[in-house]
Amino acid sequence: MRTISIINLKGGVAKTISAANIAHILATRHGKRVLLVDNDKQGNISKMFGLHGYDRPSVADILTEREPDMEEIIAPSQYGTLDIIPANMSLLKANFEALLDAARPQQTRLRAALGRVAGEYDYCVIDCAPDLNISTINALAASHDALVPIKIDKFAFDGLAELKEQIDSTREDLNPDLALRGCFVTSYQNNEVCRQGEAWLRAQRDYPVFGAHIRRTEKVDESTFANTPIVEYSPRCGAARDYLALVSEYLGGTSDSDTSGAKGGK
Ligand SMILES: Nc1ncnc2c1ncn2[C@@H]1O[C@H](COP(=O)(O)OP(=O)(O)O)[C@@H](O)[C@H]1O
Ligand SMILES: [Mg+2]
Repeated sequence: MRTISIINLKGGVAKTISAANIAHILATRHGKRVLLVDNDKQGNISKMFGLHGYDRPSVADILTEREPDMEEIIAPSQYGTLDIIPANMSLLKANFEALLDAARPQQTRLRAALGRVAGEYDYCVIDCAPDLNISTINALAASHDALVPIKIDKFAFDGLAELKEQIDSTREDLNPDLALRGCFVTSYQNNEVCRQGEAWLRAQRDYPVFGAHIRRTEKVDESTFANTPIVEYSPRCGAARDYLALVSEYLGGTSDSDTSGAKGGK
């Protein structure tokens, strides 16, 4: 199982939209077995897939339970080989609990839990919160690839240096397999600001950038109200085609047969 964190310290940059659609495309268009982890207390992924609530276990249990029951925590989605680990506000308390409980490793609990189901999936996609808390550090410690969605605006590059620093230190301290695989521009519009912002990003050396960017289209907003992934909701819209291209580009650069690095159990 190869694990991907969708991460940016900023909110509203399309982390959740990207995590949901990348996971859905990997499962439905590439026939992969995919586990999508909602790692944000907002629970937006869980809401999209009709799995938000407080009467079932969630990702919070992975942070707090000594032996989380993964069979109970993982829920099937309506899309074949795509399964979901949901989240809700209890993740807030779980972060505090994990922070106070230093009796066992605090940063590798998600990795250990995912390691136990690594044989059952080809990919795991983690939707992160715009934060560097215990949850996001657990996500980075569990991941091979960090993918960074960027929405070009005045503050687009704020926090990017801090994120890179966190990725580098996580690689050094916890997870030698972690790489910043690439940034990609979201909500792209064919205007001067987007063109210049993307050109700047492509010109610098610190952050690899995917060739694909995701065009802004109202269909994406509509798809969230319909709780439907974009390639199902509007297969011909720009954003659907762009997410398909992004996933193909990602897969093109990744050894498809790489199941060796089931992070976890380390
Ligand atoms: N390609 C796009 N075109 C139009 N709207 C988009 C696009 N991508 C994301 N959005 C909108 O931007 C908002 C933030 O997206 P979201 O994925 O929730 O961001 P984050 O998880 O980073 O906070 C949502 O309302 C979403 O519908
Ligand atoms: Mg989000």
